Amino acid sequence: MQCSWKAVILLALASIAIQYTAIRTLTSKPFQLCTLPSTQNCGLGDQETDPPLERGAGGCDDYPFFYVNASRKTHILVLATTRSGSSFVGQLLNQHQEVFYLFEPLYHVQTTLMPRLSHSHNTADRRVMLGASRDLLRSLYGCDLYFLESYIKPTPTNHTTDKLFRRGASRALCQQPVCDAYGPADVNVEEGDCVKKCALLNLTLATEACREKQHVAIKTVRVPEIGDLRALLEDPRLNIKVIQLVRDPRGILSSRIETFRDTYRLWRIWRATGRKPYNLDLSQLTVVCEDYRSSVSTGLSHPYWLKGKYMLVRYEDLAKNPLAKTKEIYDYLGLPLDKNVEDWILANTHGSNEPSAKHKFGTLRDSAANAESWRLKLSYDMVEYTQTMCQKVLQQLGYKAVRSVEQLKNMSISLVQDKSFVPFL
Ligand SMILES: *[C@@H]1O[C@H](CO)[C@@H](O)[C@H](O)[C@H]1NC(C)=O
Ligand SMILES: *[C@@H]1O[C@H](CO)[C@@H](O)[C@H](O)[C@H]1NC(C)=O
Ligand SMILES: *[C@@H]1O[C@H](CO)[C@@H](O)[C@H](O)[C@H]1NC(C)=O
Ligand SMILES: *[C@@H]1O[C@H](CO)[C@@H](O)[C@H](O)[C@H]1NC(C)=O
Repeated sequence: MQCSWKAVILLALASIAIQYTAIRTLTSKPFQLCTLPSTQNCGLGDQETDPPLERGAGGCDDYPFFYVNASRKTHILVLATTRSGSSFVGQLLNQHQEVFYLFEPLYHVQTTLMPRLSHSHNTADRRVMLGASRDLLRSLYGCDLYFLESYIKPTPTNHTTDKLFRRGASRALCQQPVCDAYGPADVNVEEGDCVKKCALLNLTLATEACREKQHVAIKTVRVPEIGDLRALLEDPRLNIKVIQLVRDPRGILSSRIETFRDTYRLWRIWRATGRKPYNLDLSQLTVVCEDYRSSVSTGLSHPYWLKGKYMLVRYEDLAKNPLAKTKEIYDYLGLPLDKNVEDWILANTHGSNEPSAKHKFGTLRDSAANAESWRLKLSYDMVEYTQTMCQKVLQQLGYKAVRSVEQLKNMSISLVQDKSFVPFL
């Protein structure tokens, strides 16, 4: 039997769409807008003075705790790409006492909907993924962690799972009451220890922990363009603040080559031999630059739906001056910078050489110099090639192109221009 490649692709797309529709159908209740303007069912008392939409929460009986404190909760979203320093920024939020932080929950959406298509850049796939991603984010900001169960494999039983992706990266999930192995004051729990000692994650307890915190922060590298989130940003029930984290694409490339050794094998061959393999997957680079260009253009053009909700942060600026930049970020979020965060920054970024297994964020320890260490790792023709492909975004973000090997390797000349990106207030 002959089967054309078009038919195969169509079949694959159809099956994704069906899976997605099924998941939505089974779990679509939370998406109903709470339109009840009346307060009598809301149980929030007479002194309630919030705008009607935020009060509507009480009207949704099937979803009693959604948005109850919506007017006060800040829903923080760190939007980044892989190897751009997003774990570090995530930690700056995770360490805050009043923040419930989740590390990349959209991982589960991607692995469920696109088991084999994770490198696909097909627009139809992308739309399905993004629709599901927005729904999940909306639910998680409402502290509905059960919603994740549709995507976790194997499906959690009795609302417990040991398969939540990077559970240990989330402080609140490694502490009482979610995990009895650690008290609330244990701040430096190692991710691996948490996973070992805390055993099964009880999602009911996690949901309660989320509701007790003032704010919810989520980090993701799985939303390519900020425009994809417009529906969330315009949702009056949410109070989203986006931190768009960017990094020099040359640095991202270099870091990915070191980290994803199989996927970036051909780039390593290029680096080692000085010759670009004919079958190099260029989309690994062009997609980064194209998404950046379009996402950053949208953000910096200040559309009305981003007003008060957008800040662009360059990883290099954060690496150079972590404490000052973190203060700026917290100012933008409208939250006080608590001492835990400051302590964490001091413990993880000062440029001491003490060898310690604890310092996972080693790249930031030597701060500024390390943020540009890609210059010593990439060959000049790889850099030149990247610059050509990503010319526009380098300009937008204030990263200087180099014109010679000498310029590239001379670390006393910074390639990061002074450029301030003020939050869009
Ligand atoms: C709203 O937040 C405050 C402060 O965190 C908390 O004391 C209060 O119990 C919350 N209200 C509800 C209804 O959850
Ligand atoms: C779920 O809980 C019920 C009632 O406590 C129990 O009978 C059942 O064995 C549990 N299922 C699993 C898979 O643990
Ligand atoms: C999870 O925690 C809730 C709330 O404390 C509890 O009622 C439930 O029994 C726990 N589930 C399991 C499987 O232990
Ligand atoms: C590096 O650049 C600086 C500043 O332009 C210059 O003074 C220095 O000679 C350069 N070093 C080398 C080794 O080219």
